[in-house]
Amino acid sequence: MIILLVLGSFFCLICAEPRGVEPPIRVDLQPPEETQTRSARNVQQNWVTMPVDHFDPQNTETFQMRFMYNEEFFGGNGYPIFILVGGEWTIVEGWLRAGNMFEMARENRGYQIYTEHRYYGQTLPYRDFTTENLQYLNVDQALADLAYFINEMKKQPRFADSKVILYGGSYAANMVLWFKQRYPHLVEGTVASSGPILAKVDFTGYLEVVHEAFLLEGGEQCIATIKQGIEDTILAMQTEEGKRELEAAYRLCNPIDYNDRFDLGYFSGLISWSFSTSVQQARPGTLLTICNDFASETYGVTPMQKIGGYIATTRSLGNSCWHMEYQGILNAYSGNTNSRAWYYQTCTEYGYYQTAPTSGTVFDPLVWLSVEFYVDICKRVFDERFDEAFVYDAIDRVNLIFGGLEPKVNNTINIHGYIDPWRALGVYDRDLTETSPTYTVTRASHCFDMQGWLRTDTIRMTNAQQAARRLVARWLSNT
Ligand SMILES: *[C@@H]1O[C@H](CO)[C@@H](O)[C@H](O)[C@H]1NC(C)=O
Repeated sequence: MIILLVLGSFFCLICAEPRGVEPPIRVDLQPPEETQTRSARNVQQNWVTMPVDHFDPQNTETFQMRFMYNEEFFGGNGYPIFILVGGEWTIVEGWLRAGNMFEMARENRGYQIYTEHRYYGQTLPYRDFTTENLQYLNVDQALADLAYFINEMKKQPRFADSKVILYGGSYAANMVLWFKQRYPHLVEGTVASSGPILAKVDFTGYLEVVHEAFLLEGGEQCIATIKQGIEDTILAMQTEEGKRELEAAYRLCNPIDYNDRFDLGYFSGLISWSFSTSVQQARPGTLLTICNDFASETYGVTPMQKIGGYIATTRSLGNSCWHMEYQGILNAYSGNTNSRAWYYQTCTEYGYYQTAPTSGTVFDPLVWLSVEFYVDICKRVFDERFDEAFVYDAIDRVNLIFGGLEPKVNNTINIHGYIDPWRALGVYDRDLTETSPTYTVTRASHCFDMQGWLRTDTIRMTNAQQAARRLVARWLSNT
């Protein structure tokens, strides 16, 4: 009994570690639920040798690029290849054992592959992510990796006549669309799920969709509670008593520095990033449940306590507390991690900075979530030269090269969820071209179509997934 008590308090010391948060700029999707148990041998992995720099023939350095494959449905010589394109995350086997691309492979007797993006997971041109070593991390190199990879596969006689289909979600949706545009001779068609194809520094549209999603799914009452909670939080910063109430409501380890705009930026992030993470991962019913929990005082009594409790609950804070010093977020980007690699890409290619809107949303008061805040991280984590002018130029370059919201691309299925915050940087209200249709689905969120069938899916979600499968099958049957 005594031993249990001692053990218990020991574990609580561990679980009381102060915690930080990261912005949901980087996406890492959970693999689809598997409908049947399968042998782990279905999915295997291998490596291919890749040039570090595809655009300088004098540079002959190479690295090993990882990929996974599943041949269980493969019909033999000339049957198609389906490639799930990895983005800013570590590839995992589950994506070749279920989901919409898995169904496509089953229906068309295809060979399934999942490629890992350079600088993520185990595909590492360099172990050490110094700013200097990150110079070969960009989408142009990553698309060339894919081209080399497909060419390498096609050298096998069984694939010589195989058509290739690419499927990608989020940043990897941009990749497949841009790949089809740049290397049309290498792929038959692509499926782009939730692609934010317009690079943008001051991305206020993101939190605008988060607001709209809570309004559509949860109603006016819910929005009123969130609005009051955030306004009360800002008001509490004006008095000493209010500050102590705020720190208790949000489970902060220490008082924040209320004079430091970057500490306040980080604290504003704790709030907005929690709401946006819920929206980004929402399925029908998820947001309504949160709103019902606000109404029934599950998370707390006052509006401010409700928000603090909601954040602690949805982020499984347990007995620990939030550590909201700006230095904490800088430390989170200092290791050799996927997070650091992706933040580098936001500074040098995409921006995607989820700033406070000024259009009457509940998030408008969080003014410290500014371009200055996000770009300061670029400067401190990578290089003093990565200032606002640098980042704006970098974003312009990407939009110039790929065409922003006007890509000229054939055979690309462009899918969006209407309540997905990333939808605001995609083309969701018209077809891309005559051969590249758009499906935007109400109540759906980020990359919903990549999953397998779920009990909570609406008919429209299922229809969009089926439409994509039908069009892919048609591309493959054309000779
Ligand atoms: C798309 O296909 C149409 C019809 O075949 C063709 O005229 C057009 O040039 C193609 N566009 C691109 C960007 O390949």
